[in-house]
Amino acid sequence: MEKRIGIIGFGEMGKRHALEFREATCGMISVAGVVEPDDLKYQQGCEWNQFQVPRFKTIAELLEQAKPDGILIASPNFMHYENLRELKDFSNPILLEKPLDTTLENIVRIVRFAREHKGIILVDHVMRYAPIMQEAKRMIEEGKIGKVCSFEFTQRMDAGAMYHTFRRSIAKGGGHMIEKATHDLDVALFLTGAMPESVVMISRRQLYGGTRPDDLCCSGCPDILKCSSANLSHRSAADNFKDIDVTNDLCVFAKEVDVPDNESCLIQCSGGIFGSYSHNYFSRQSGRSRTYEIIGTEGALFIEMAAAPDFQGVIHYYPRNLEGKTDIRKYHYFGKIHYNGGPYLARHFHSLMTGAETQPYTTVAQAFLAEALGLAAMESAKAGRFVPLAEIVPDDLKDILNGGK
Ligand SMILES: NC(=O)c1ccc[n+]([C@@H]2O[C@H](COP(=O)([O-])OP(=O)(O)OC[C@H]3O[C@@H](n4cnc5c(N)ncnc54)[C@H](O)[C@@H]3O)[C@@H](O)[C@H]2O)c1
Repeated sequence: MEKRIGIIGFGEMGKRHALEFREATCGMISVAGVVEPDDLKYQQGCEWNQFQVPRFKTIAELLEQAKPDGILIASPNFMHYENLRELKDFSNPILLEKPLDTTLENIVRIVRFAREHKGIILVDHVMRYAPIMQEAKRMIEEGKIGKVCSFEFTQRMDAGAMYHTFRRSIAKGGGHMIEKATHDLDVALFLTGAMPESVVMISRRQLYGGTRPDDLCCSGCPDILKCSSANLSHRSAADNFKDIDVTNDLCVFAKEVDVPDNESCLIQCSGGIFGSYSHNYFSRQSGRSRTYEIIGTEGALFIEMAAAPDFQGVIHYYPRNLEGKTDIRKYHYFGKIHYNGGPYLARHFHSLMTGAETQPYTTVAQAFLAEALGLAAMESAKAGRFVPLAEIVPDDLKDILNGGK
């Protein structure tokens, strides 16, 4: 049964979702219309999708005239709550991009909105759908590593996706513990089955930021050839594999850049489980974009999400004492972004729209847990001590810390 969606924010993710949804569902999801304020982005989105997508000025017009069966919100992070509240009378499924929003205040508003809302809200925590993650989860649930004890997650990237875009400021992106680590913290909780209790973090901005004008772009910069962080690629988005438009070229040394670029945290969870998460945005290392290790009483999983040389996923299983059989499972992503999680998310979204499924697989409460953990980590970096999540989560939402929906 064909379903038609409306898209709020037809930028990089909006246009990619539109095409991927169509491909993954053999045309069962089509685009009824978009709200996109930027003419160039709209045009690029139409080119990417190879058809002239109907465009509406406001969300109200999109709902009224296109009558979509579902909505995707893929606007910048700081617009999410503002967009969502305009859907209060919309009862068809909504797919909301991560993170929920940028500030604790708005993130909390979204959780409260979702609790009151009569329709389904699905969050795009796309990594949970990736076959490699599903397999790791199965292996842990089957008891291959025994009782889960600890985890160690790392992420290494360069400036491209993060500091040349709106993500370079806390006000617009929320900071990487919200914008980027949301995925990793969510996956840590998904794989270990643990609930986060408290966190401490060291947070530094060691390379990016400075005194350059906020409107300076690499393309107009007199120092472009002398700058080691300049975005020289200017490839069209169509010929690359990245999930972020590589043509973004805001200066990474601008005044407004206030997002830390090197952070490490220690996390205490329920059941005695503990873990660490570190990310760095100026030391890209081939094959190391994301590495996850989960240690149990009977063995360990070491997961490379983008192993060199050809960007594949690899799960290494090591039994304790190396007495048993070791195991390596490899995952091809078939040219798909997000570790090939997108097509599974698309089919789930379609099933929610047809009513074949009624429960979202990736929920607002799960996203809230990961983001509360990120926000508590940011708070701990300022306070210089462990911060319990209960300290920042309002009373009416504290049940989520104990598994509430
Ligand atoms: N799930 C994932 O793995 C993943 C990956 C990348 C990005 N994202 C998320 O997707 C969202 C969009 O990111 P992006 O990389 O596509 O950014 P982008 O800047 O390319 O696209 C955002 C678009 O929203 C438009 N916009 C701005 N204000 C708007 C408004 N009021 N109403 C409607 N549209 C508006 C912008 O003009 C832009 O075209 C972000 O929340 C980001 O965190 C998620």
